[in-house]
Amino acid sequence: MGKKLKAGVIGGGGSSTTFHAPVYLADENIEFVGILDPAEISRQRCLKTLGPLGLTASQLFDDEKVFMDQGLDMVSICVPNVQHRSVMVACAEKKIHVLCEKPPAINAGEVAEMISAAESANVKLVWQFNNRFRPEARWMWSHIFPHYNSPIGDIVTAQAEWVRRNGIPGRGSWFTQKAMSGGGPIIDLSIHVMDLALFAMGYPKPTYVMATASDLFINDMDACGPWGFSDPDGIMDVETASQGMVLFEGGKSMQYRASWAERIVKERVACVMQGTKGGVLLERTFGQDGIDDTAIDKCIIVQQSFGQPSNNEFIGLRDPFMGRRTSVKAFIDSIVSGQRNPLLPEPEDGLTMMKMIDAMYESAKTGKPVEIVW
Ligand SMILES: NC(=O)c1ccc[n+]([C@@H]2O[C@H](COP(=O)([O-])OP(=O)(O)OC[C@H]3O[C@@H](n4cnc5c(N)ncnc54)[C@H](O)[C@@H]3O)[C@@H](O)[C@H]2O)c1
Repeated sequence: MGKKLKAGVIGGGGSSTTFHAPVYLADENIEFVGILDPAEISRQRCLKTLGPLGLTASQLFDDEKVFMDQGLDMVSICVPNVQHRSVMVACAEKKIHVLCEKPPAINAGEVAEMISAAESANVKLVWQFNNRFRPEARWMWSHIFPHYNSPIGDIVTAQAEWVRRNGIPGRGSWFTQKAMSGGGPIIDLSIHVMDLALFAMGYPKPTYVMATASDLFINDMDACGPWGFSDPDGIMDVETASQGMVLFEGGKSMQYRASWAERIVKERVACVMQGTKGGVLLERTFGQDGIDDTAIDKCIIVQQSFGQPSNNEFIGLRDPFMGRRTSVKAFIDSIVSGQRNPLLPEPEDGLTMMKMIDAMYESAKTGKPVEIVW
């Protein structure tokens, strides 16, 4: 085995301690430098959660300069969305490869800056679009790619949906404040399932976007989800639900729905796609809404065989982490080996996604279709 590479995580909240740090701590090719977080309470939680996995107090940093001077090769960025850009640019200046949590940033202009910083510093910039790494998604890709012999053919339309009944995350936290998060369920949830649709379609450029956004149940404390503390007086100035349609270059299209709060029967995460030869359903449903440990995942490939409808269904081991840890591992391996994993998102995927999301917010605000000019 060669020299270990040095890795760290910036931000010590939920995504860091549950999805990122445990993977670095367990990787034999990694020397885990530690976690940077200015908040004492977060560092204490890190120690409590990750102590049993081997994290020690000496691996917790509150000083950015000291952390950034540790000779890091790679980091995961797990801070509130509004800080993705500045933290990523600081990493690029130190020649550190970056896995950045989703959304890439709070708007496309910031993403363009991040891509340019990565290019100038010659470092890798990868987005945490983890749904690509769900077991049933990996099975699906093995059927969809390469396109020339796919049983589904070329994917031309998709319906992407992540809808919650009572799933406002930590009312009053940074998640529900537009200035810090960039928005509600459009930027927080639908990004996961829209990435599946776009990736399957070859990341076509969106040309027209039509979207709505509502704030129904915005002050309903029953609509708060099971994560974090919800404050009835906290700031909540983002949408609670949205739906719309996107047209792409080449005539492809996608409809989407996203909600944190809606009067629906159950939470559902799904990407349904229609191709020139067959179709696909990829879906997560929950025993208990919002609790990943109770999720049921499936993928069905829909075909016509010998003149009859036929389905090919993936029945695999559950991954409650929804591909999040597998995606981190793929990032680590790609940096260690120098070999690109074709499922890892390209920097431009994040830019295309954020241009589309910016257009959704603009369309919802103006009540008009928005053209994206490339
Ligand atoms: N891929 C997924 O499914 C998934 C799931 C949850 C969250 N996320 C994303 O992960 C990111 C973090 O979300 P979270 O749920 O962990 O939030 P969180 O609020 O639990 O944690 C954020 C942490 O970042 C720290 N922080 C703030 N500014 C910092 C800075 N400049 N340097 C270092 N630390 C800083 C805060 O003190 C806090 O401890 C967000 O972008 C979110 O969208 C992704």
